[in-house]
Amino acid sequence: MKKKLIVGATAVTLAAMALTGCSARSTAPAASGSAAGATIPKGSTIGVALPAKTSQNWVLAGQDFTQAIAKAGYKADVQYAPASNTVPGQQQQITAMTTKGDKVIVIGAADGSQLGSQVSAAKKAGITVIAWDRLITNTPNVDYYVAFNNYHVGELQGQALLDGLKAKGKAPYNVELFAGSPDDSNAKIFFNGAMSVLQPKIDDGTLKVVSGQKSFTEVDTQGWLPANAQARATNLLTKYYSKTDLDGVLSPNDTLARGILTAVKAAGKSNPVITGQDSETASIPLIMNGTQYSTIYKDTNLEANAAVKLVKELAAGSKPTGVVNDPKQNNNGKKVVPAVELTPVLVTKDNAVKAYANNPTLEALAKKG
Ligand code: BGC
Repeated sequence: MKKKLIVGATAVTLAAMALTGCSARSTAPAASGSAAGATIPKGSTIGVALPAKTSQNWVLAGQDFTQAIAKAGYKADVQYAPASNTVPGQQQQITAMTTKGDKVIVIGAADGSQLGSQVSAAKKAGITVIAWDRLITNTPNVDYYVAFNNYHVGELQGQALLDGLKAKGKAPYNVELFAGSPDDSNAKIFFNGAMSVLQPKIDDGTLKVVSGQKSFTEVDTQGWLPANAQARATNLLTKYYSKTDLDGVLSPNDTLARGILTAVKAAGKSNPVITGQDSETASIPLIMNGTQYSTIYKDTNLEANAAVKLVKELAAGSKPTGVVNDPKQNNNGKKVVPAVELTPVLVTKDNAVKAYANNPTLEALAKKG
């Protein structure tokens, strides 16, 4: 209990320091949020810089932010990074938001390692910077991070793969591993979370990674592009699975799972147990008919609203609620970014209807089967 309190206090202090620009050595008393309050007046503009629409969650994010920001009494300036020229495109958008005088910039980074100078300029202009869903790395100029617990997403995926395989039959199981894009700091965290569950089962012989490709750099998928995952799956199947079955696949999200399943089908192989993430509308029918074993529900609306709630609390000068220090996954190389961490939900055919009870579109798809 005591430990928890101390951690909480540190988070608040760090948060206050972030707002006031105090260094860790500063002896100045922790600022109340009122300084921020004065800088985020009602009616001011909140910039939201999102990456390209590589998966459905980002499409939903734009809609959810537009609504939540308007409802909170601010003006929304939501921009997507262009599909090509993604990184420079997003850098320019953030710079424009800063020049225009947005009071808060929420950033879903296209590449979280390449925004150092943009967020530095934003902070110099007195703007509150919130990393959203993906951490911005190697810079002290991020005030907060709002996301689902990404490591736990990975743990759930790893466990789901094991559960699905167990239901299928006797070990050992032939599996292959896929990870997300190396320019997204989440991708490695998802993978590490999953491997924390899978590695012991590889070590004890329950799982056999037939290709031998087990490190993040061997299994990552540039740009989170399904075509890249499909191409790698095709190669693996041709090279390693001509005489044996592929029993299971760790897939980091639904878009990639569908790409991998296309390759499996084209190779004439039977359906492996495969994981996913995002609860995409195109994947729910696959979950319900048993083609895809699992997905993760990260309610985008909840995540967008958590960021807007944080802005409202800062604007009101009150202490932000639910902010934690989680060095295991939110150390961005310069500091542990104070974070609001939401809880992801594992979804399989068995709990889908219940899990999507707050989302009429997904619930209807789950009920349809
Ligand atoms: C998000 C995932 C998404 C992936 C690809 C990640 O940063 O957390 O939900 O599937 O990006 O867009």
